[in-house]
Amino acid sequence: MVEKIQQLHAAIVAFRAASREEIEQFRVNFLGKKGSITTLFDDFKSLPAGEKRTIGQALNDLKTKAKEKLDAMKTTVEDTGDHPRESLDASRPGFPARPGSRHPLSLVRNEILEIFNRMGFAVSEGPEIEDDWHNFSALNFPEEHPARDMQDTFFASKSPDILLRTHTSSVQVRDMESHPLPLRLVTPGRVFRNEAISARAHCIFHQVEALYIDKDVSFADLKQTLDFFAREFFGPSTRVRLRPSFFPFTEPSAEMDVSCSLCGGTGCNVCKGTGWLEIMGCGMVDPNVLDLNGIDKEVYSGFALGMGIERVAMLKHGIRDLRLFFENDVRFLEQFTAAGIQ
Ligand code: DAH
Repeated sequence: MVEKIQQLHAAIVAFRAASREEIEQFRVNFLGKKGSITTLFDDFKSLPAGEKRTIGQALNDLKTKAKEKLDAMKTTVEDTGDHPRESLDASRPGFPARPGSRHPLSLVRNEILEIFNRMGFAVSEGPEIEDDWHNFSALNFPEEHPARDMQDTFFASKSPDILLRTHTSSVQVRDMESHPLPLRLVTPGRVFRNEAISARAHCIFHQVEALYIDKDVSFADLKQTLDFFAREFFGPSTRVRLRPSFFPFTEPSAEMDVSCSLCGGTGCNVCKGTGWLEIMGCGMVDPNVLDLNGIDKEVYSGFALGMGIERVAMLKHGIRDLRLFFENDVRFLEQFTAAGIQ
């Protein structure tokens, strides 16, 4: 089956259409009811479970490839069509101009910030190029500690270590340096990790971090904040659960899951049948971090949380491929403002 997939892939890449009829023929041959990709999906059902995972992924990629090719061929024909392409049609009316729309990641970021603003969190931002202290050391990542391997880092220089920040947690440190206590801040931003680009990962993505430090901040405050955020963002019937986890800068640490917004918790292929979706990391600021940043841990306590914007945007809007956010195809982008999100 792998061989067949490879052959079809090569055939799709090599295909050249000279007319609308040939494009239609391409659709029928590959994607039609009896098309070769459709047939492969039928055969796929009888594969042993062990093979299904990798083959399924390859098959889906193949189908996406065929669809993309089809769209691209259609666009080319429409553009050049029966008429030669004109660079500028001066006779077209200038109004109404198409206003454009905000990028879905900006929309989702603004929505997250707005929810935290309502709870009294002010926005703060920090630099994308960081030093070791702000990205790691001041967050209690010891030198040579395996926790540093949790995040594959792009270094601009070694000793002194200058790097592209791997998370927005670096801004927590800058906030503790420069703001008087108490602190209640929410930090959006771009982060970078050395990861291969796929439907689920990218070397550039976005996070939002929140940090609250005051006297008597407790885990109950964190939980209440998470509950509020989850219901505001995913809808009023959303449930939240916390699982114990580890981050060098929080103790205790947790991963937060929300009940699956697509199936309502009964189990579907997005939540892999579990009914839960992992949304963010969080925890009580580790007393070591308070120490490292000159805050009296006997008097102050705090909580922190961080989430990926792409991830929550994908879960909220049922987007299956992260690459769509970066391709900037207008047909994708304009769907979000059309849905009434401003
Ligand atoms: N910085 C973590 C990451 O990128 C996410 C995170 C986890 C942020 C726990 C936090 C936190 O503030 O408390 O994986």
